[in-house]
Amino acid sequence: MTDITEAVEAGRIELATAMAALDGPLAYEETAYNLPISFAVTGTPVSDADSARDAYAASSENPLVAWECVRAHRAAASGAEGAPYTGFIPDAEIRKLGYSLVDGSILGLCLIVGQPDRPDVAAALCRELQEKYMLTFLAGPVVPALQEANIRVGLEYRLVPLGSTASHGIHFADILARVAMMFGGITPGDAARLLAYAAERRARAMVIAFPGLSDEEIASIDALRLLGIPILHTGGYTGGEWTPTEGKDAVRDGMDLLGIKVTVTAIPIPMGCSPAFEGKSIRKEEMYVEFGGGRSPAFELLRMKDPSEVEDGKVTVIGPEIEDLQEGSAVPLAILIDVAGKNFRKDYEPVLERRIHNFVNYGEGSWHTAQRDLIWVRLSKEAVKNGLRIEHLGKLLAAKFRMDFPDLLDAVQVTLVTDRAEVERLKAEAEAVYGERDDRIRGMRDDDVDTFYSCTLCQTFAPDHVCIITPERPALCGAISWLDGRIAHEISPAGANQPVKKEGLIDRDGGEFEGVNRFLKKASHGAVDRCRLYSVVEYPMTCCGCFEAIALVLPEVNGIMVVNREYKGETPSGMTFSTLAGTIGGGAQTPGFAGISKGYILSDRFLQAEGGIERLVWLPSNLKEELGPRLRSKLAEKGKAELFDRIATEHEATTIEELMAYLDQAGHPALAMKELF
Ligand code: SF4
Ligand code: NI
Repeated sequence: MTDITEAVEAGRIELATAMAALDGPLAYEETAYNLPISFAVTGTPVSDADSARDAYAASSENPLVAWECVRAHRAAASGAEGAPYTGFIPDAEIRKLGYSLVDGSILGLCLIVGQPDRPDVAAALCRELQEKYMLTFLAGPVVPALQEANIRVGLEYRLVPLGSTASHGIHFADILARVAMMFGGITPGDAARLLAYAAERRARAMVIAFPGLSDEEIASIDALRLLGIPILHTGGYTGGEWTPTEGKDAVRDGMDLLGIKVTVTAIPIPMGCSPAFEGKSIRKEEMYVEFGGGRSPAFELLRMKDPSEVEDGKVTVIGPEIEDLQEGSAVPLAILIDVAGKNFRKDYEPVLERRIHNFVNYGEGSWHTAQRDLIWVRLSKEAVKNGLRIEHLGKLLAAKFRMDFPDLLDAVQVTLVTDRAEVERLKAEAEAVYGERDDRIRGMRDDDVDTFYSCTLCQTFAPDHVCIITPERPALCGAISWLDGRIAHEISPAGANQPVKKEGLIDRDGGEFEGVNRFLKKASHGAVDRCRLYSVVEYPMTCCGCFEAIALVLPEVNGIMVVNREYKGETPSGMTFSTLAGTIGGGAQTPGFAGISKGYILSDRFLQAEGGIERLVWLPSNLKEELGPRLRSKLAEKGKAELFDRIATEHEATTIEELMAYLDQAGHPALAMKELF
């Protein structure tokens, strides 16, 4: 039995001694937050041993700061650990993570340290965490134990192996510190607010400790309590403030302490089914059979039917089943979901149809990408070996739709067609339905509606952030359209999407309305009281951190550039996407910068306040390619086809000087437009 209080005392002395002996540079790559905990707590950007000691002193010898600096020093001395360990996780990954935390696909975070008695105990614990929508970090001997039990680890499995010692668990804390700064609007150095933020348990985090930790490791892990994180242990420790639990109850006890309630109903199919598997992929060598992806015709369609036509839970397969298919082949597929429900409406169809993607990916051995008639689905060899059949995909879909939309759906029936002639015949019908839906959305203008929708989902992390979603200005995360907002409000009237009256026009070009301002003031708790929906320069919308892209002013060329998240290189602003994102997130309004979705670039309201799309001077080439045909036709429609080639990419310019020269030579219209300021 290790006495925690004694171990903490001894361990803190070890940490302090190690702090005094630090030397050399201390830095992580791909972060704008230096050593994130030290930065969050003290505001000091630690870069070497001296600044580390300054931060430690400034933090009143906070053991989290010591732990972080000492760990960074050891990482610098010994180099990165190889596979499977991740080590420090870059900012870009944390942003994605933040989004999963707000959309509810991850309910909380757990760190596991120490030496499990038996691999199967650790395996069962991790399975349970996966099934209960938790994201789990692993530090130390638990990683080889899981591998021994044939459990796959990696961010895509929501079991993140941080490093080979419990000391690597610091990266769990540096993630929480960055989430607070990125999404929570916590200013570096404002330790009091950081602690208050942590104490509200916004990130819902816990630790499960197995036996065998050293004094220094115990002191380090114990310091996580400063962030309001409960620590549970499965035996081997006495005293201190850790909560004892049995291994098999650890997850339930921990989630109870965090106040997370989740009921998991098992679906009777021969493969695991959990959001934890959503991020996995099935490689060609692992694939038993595939559908679509350009190799065979495939599509999906969800339709509302009369209740008399829908038999709840019924799954039909028309055409060859798995045993009739050759391993490695590409097979046609139609996924047809028929739904009925008193509260269901026809215009909910596309919103629910999009969930097919998530649900198929929940299957441990099934994978899905894209939508409509572009889908690509794979089933893994391993799952097929365990008895998975095409029929089970239908069972999974029918069950998940009923579970996730209990108020909306009274009956769900699934038909899976693998017969080529039948798939082709039905696909023509589906295409007509897609066309009708597109016409409905494409035709919508901000002028045609009297109500916009808000979204405050991201307030979990950025407490003052409010998105206003209009037909022509989709949400900055790219995930929610005006139609989605309206439907979400109808489905859940007290939820995060509320109607916003578009009344009291203040400025037409800028898109400012009294009704919107009034709503914003209330929803942002007084932090923001003006917003010009179509402007980057003045009173732009607030940014939570989820934006697909950033639009920002380049005063030197009288224009506006856009950079998307996928682009890692330099931009003419002198900042990369990740540096920019670190500057504008957290729910603040930053004049000159706006978080936007990629699709908004194609909207007629894009940059309306600044004179329109002629202001657009630079885009990364990958984004320009992605928007390519749609951007060309948008420009042609405005009689500005020649603008396409005048918009620079990183191939023409990565500095402002190069950009100036290119725009000049290309005759870009922004140079001759009205001054931006
Ligand atoms: Fe977050 Fe805005 Fe997207 Fe809602 S619409 S999830 S608030 S980024
Ligand atoms: Ni957000």
